[in-house]
Amino acid sequence: MAEAFQPDQLATDKAGRYRDLAVEIAAVLEGEPDLTARMATVSSMLRAAFVHFYWVGFYVVDLARTEEMVVGPYQGTLGCLRIAFSRGVCGTAARERRTVVVDDVEAFPGHIACDSRSRSEIVVPVLDPDGALIAVLDVDAETPAAFDGIDARGLETILHDIFSR
Ligand code: SME
Repeated sequence: MAEAFQPDQLATDKAGRYRDLAVEIAAVLEGEPDLTARMATVSSMLRAAFVHFYWVGFYVVDLARTEEMVVGPYQGTLGCLRIAFSRGVCGTAARERRTVVVDDVEAFPGHIACDSRSRSEIVVPVLDPDGALIAVLDVDAETPAAFDGIDARGLETILHDIFSR
């Protein structure tokens, strides 16, 4: 068992914090293959490391439906249960398999307002080791423009290490 996770000991600059967090998450998840456990742990540790992450969690591709995701492990207020690939920021990231950063959710056509307090968000696709899309990670903040390229690279690196190797 890894030592207790202490977010206050992570680097204070954002890029360093993501780097430290990647190491901590990998240590906690070492030897654990279960995807639900991995997604739950990533959600919890991201939320603990970044207090402005108002909602953080996964929408998982539902293989029983066509181009639809169902909510997976998350931290935050009540999330929507299902999101079609055709809708919202999550659907765009899933469809186009790219990270989407939205500074102002009200200006994003088709944004799905699960919680009206959400003002900006970042959604990152999650691929398995074969390159198949398995989920997206959605992070929401209560302030506009809370996410930038450092968040995109930091989250992409963590997700690649944990789900794509
Ligand atoms: N805002 C997202 C929906 C998910 S939640 O905010 C938790 C979207 O437009 O895809």
